[in-house]
Amino acid sequence: MTPRRDRVQIAASILAADFAALGAAIATAERGGADLIHVDVMDGHFVPNITIGPPVVAALKRVARLPLDVHLMIEDPDRYIPAFAEAGAARLNVHVEVLPHLHRTIQFIKTFGVEAGVAINPGTPVGALEDIAADVDQVLVMSVNPGFGGQTFIARSESKVRAIRELLRREQSRAVISVDGGVEPHNAAQIVAAGADILVAGTAIFGRPDPAQAIHDLRAAASAAVAS
Ligand code: DX5
Ligand code: ZN
Repeated sequence: MTPRRDRVQIAASILAADFAALGAAIATAERGGADLIHVDVMDGHFVPNITIGPPVVAALKRVARLPLDVHLMIEDPDRYIPAFAEAGAARLNVHVEVLPHLHRTIQFIKTFGVEAGVAINPGTPVGALEDIAADVDQVLVMSVNPGFGGQTFIARSESKVRAIRELLRREQSRAVISVDGGVEPHNAAQIVAAGADILVAGTAIFGRPDPAQAIHDLRAAASAAVAS
């Protein structure tokens, strides 16, 4: 799943798709040239919303050709990591805010042969990642407060991405940076210029009349930063 630095990856977040037709949403994202399917798991405790669990991820895995990048917005990820790995997640992202034993959890994810990501909320300082940066495959930077799609990108996230890029360099980490929340064509280039490898987008894809075209639009906007 490692992206080339000269090509931005687009992760289609199905949170904004029609939940009665998730298979069709994935097919559309694949047709549009998305690189990953981003799956938002919410438990009603860590975030004020409830979405999907392992059985749905297993069903998505049966129809998806693209890797499933699963974002666990749940209070007790350790308890559910085996089930999500078994369901077919290619990468599991856990939130730094809920894990007193983050290092153990990251190693636990890897024992299933699954990539491990760490997600960080807008209000959490970058320093929280310092001692784990070298051990993760991805840093998932939340550019909105998690729980809902369709929110506005928090402007400060841009400098946070820069700081995380610098941290990864210092720690000689090969982790990729994903940015999640409020990503749209108008801010894609600046997010990539700040250091993002992967743009996660829900509303900017599935909230548009032609989601496949929307992926092209997002990539074109993002590529402006790569080219410059
Ligand atoms: C928010 C989720 C995001 C969400 C982004 O809690 O983690 O993945 O789908 O949605 P948009 O792109 O609509 O901001
Ligand atoms: Zn997400």
